[in-house]
This record gives sequence, structure tokens and C-alpha cells, in this order.
Amino acid sequence: MTVKELQNEILRIKKEKDVCILAHAYQSHEIWEVADYVGDSYGLSLKAKETKNKNVIMCGVRFMAETCKILSPDKKVYLPNSDAGCPMAEQFTKEDALQLKKQYPGLPLVAYINTSAELKTVTEVVVTSSSAVKIIQNMDEQEMLFVPDCNLGSWISQKLPDKKLHMIKGGCPTHMRITGHDVEEAKAIHPDALVLVHPECLPEVTAMSDYIGSTTDIMKFAKESDAKEFIIGTENSIKEHLQFECPEKMFYPLSKTTVCMNMKLTTLMDVYNTLMLRSGEEIILDPTTIYDARKCIDNMIKLGG
Ligand code: 13P
Ligand code: SF4
Repeated sequence: MTVKELQNEILRIKKEKDVCILAHAYQSHEIWEVADYVGDSYGLSLKAKETKNKNVIMCGVRFMAETCKILSPDKKVYLPNSDAGCPMAEQFTKEDALQLKKQYPGLPLVAYINTSAELKTVTEVVVTSSSAVKIIQNMDEQEMLFVPDCNLGSWISQKLPDKKLHMIKGGCPTHMRITGHDVEEAKAIHPDALVLVHPECLPEVTAMSDYIGSTTDIMKFAKESDAKEFIIGTENSIKEHLQFECPEKMFYPLSKTTVCMNMKLTTLMDVYNTLMLRSGEEIILDPTTIYDARKCIDNMIKLGG
């Protein structure tokens, strides 16, 4: 079977079985082509809430599929490759959160969406990279706990100096591999290129960049910009997708090591096998977890607009 034939089969079967395929922007181009929606974590959450299909296949990592199940508990939600987790989401547990809350009584806990469903049950507000600044600005509280990504937290603090975020030491191992030295090297090779990076990068990297944004925001900026060359500081799939969408522009990786092994796990064949109910994992969460975890995600959507 060719890739094209497999994609056609997927498109046919998903219609027949009333399945919506959602894909995070870091997924492969082959998967993008069969998806009903591709976007960042915030966009995926909104789609998960509004889709009318009975079944959803979430191509991404576990926390994205869990968020989808929490927002659409009556649907069957599948993660096509059950090994696809997010290492950052495993850095901080519900027990760690309860300890931290004891240390800082009365402060709300704000968590990056890249966290487990369990942790979300004791979280007041969830944020994503594209919505964090707006949400925290809209919160009444001036002081809060922020977990687990201290790089994203530092970027938010710079944007909102009146807000005090108490952070822990956590972050994305993929983005934290990029160094200030990588930026210097890439700029020396491509002096006319703009540097676009994700806020999960180290502060030494964001400080040297021309634009900071979520996966979707980076793509939007590059497509709309008059510039012709871009150095991309996020998972290297974004550089490839941009090259497809804007063949007249040039895109370079900020570092060749910016590869998320977890995001790379899901294949087109996994999507097909999930549709055929031969593999993949149906996300099952108990009703209490869904109920308790939903509040902080609803707060995200309410404050994020
Ligand atoms: P986005 O919200 O930008 O899609 O980020 C998700 C993610 O996992 C980035 O590493
Ligand atoms: Fe998690 Fe980082 Fe991979 Fe995003 S890129 S899924 S934050 S490990």
C-alpha cells in the first residue's frame, strides 16, 4: 500500500465510523493531510470541546488526549500510540502540587496544560503557550504558583511584571537542549533570517530571538511576515511544515537536536490501526477525575477567550 492509498483508506473509514482526527502541529505531514484540524494545544482544546463526531483520535501526546476526554466525556477518545507521553507532564505530580500548596497557602495553582489529568484535579487554572499571558493578565490574583515549566513562567513574568509567579524547576527537555550558542551560530550562518522560538526555550534563547510564540503563532508569524528567511526554534517538524506552506521562503532549524521523540512516535499506520480498533489506546478516566479536572480547563477557556 502506498502512503496515498493508506491516507485515502483513513479518510474513507473515518467518515464511515464518525471519527474526528485531531493532530498537534508537531505531527508528520502525512498525518496533517488526514486530520480534520491541526493546531496548538489551545486550538486542540477548543476543537475537542466543539466537535460533533462520536469518536476522536488525538494525534499528539497523552495529556492532549486526556484534555480531549475531559472536555468531551461522552465521546470515545483514542491515543493512537500509547507510548506517546510528554516528559514535562511527568515532572510534577498531584502529590507535589499538594505539598507546594501547603507551602504557599491561599495562592492559586496555575498549571501549563502539559500536565496529567490527576494534577489538573487540584489546579485552579490551566494555560497554554498561546494563551498564558492573556489568561494570567485576566486573573484577579497578583500572586500565584506556576508549574511545571519555569522557562514559560519566566517569559510570562517578563511580559507581566506586576504578576508574581512562584515557580518550580521544570521544563521541556526538547526545547531546553537549544542554547544561546546555537542562536549565535545559526545567526552567523544566516544573518538575514529572523529567529522565531517557542516560550519553552531557555531565557538565554528567547532573549536573543525576534519572535516568541506557540507552534501555531510561530507558523502564522512566518507566513504573514515580509521576511524571506527564518530560523525556527521549536520542534523541527514546524520548520518542515512551514517549508511546505511557503516554498518561496527558506526555513532553517535553530538546532538539529530539537526533536521530540514522543511526538515522533505516532505514525500514519498507527492512525489506521486505531481506526480499525487493532491498536491505540482508548482514554478512560474516572468520572470524578473528569469532573474535578474540568474546572481548571473551563477557566482557561473562560479567561483565554
Ligand atoms: P503548543 O501549545 O505551542 O502547541 O505547545 C505544545 C507543546 O508541547 C510544545 O512543546
Ligand atoms: Fe512535551 Fe516538549 Fe515534546 Fe512538547 S516538545 S510534547 S513539551 S517533551
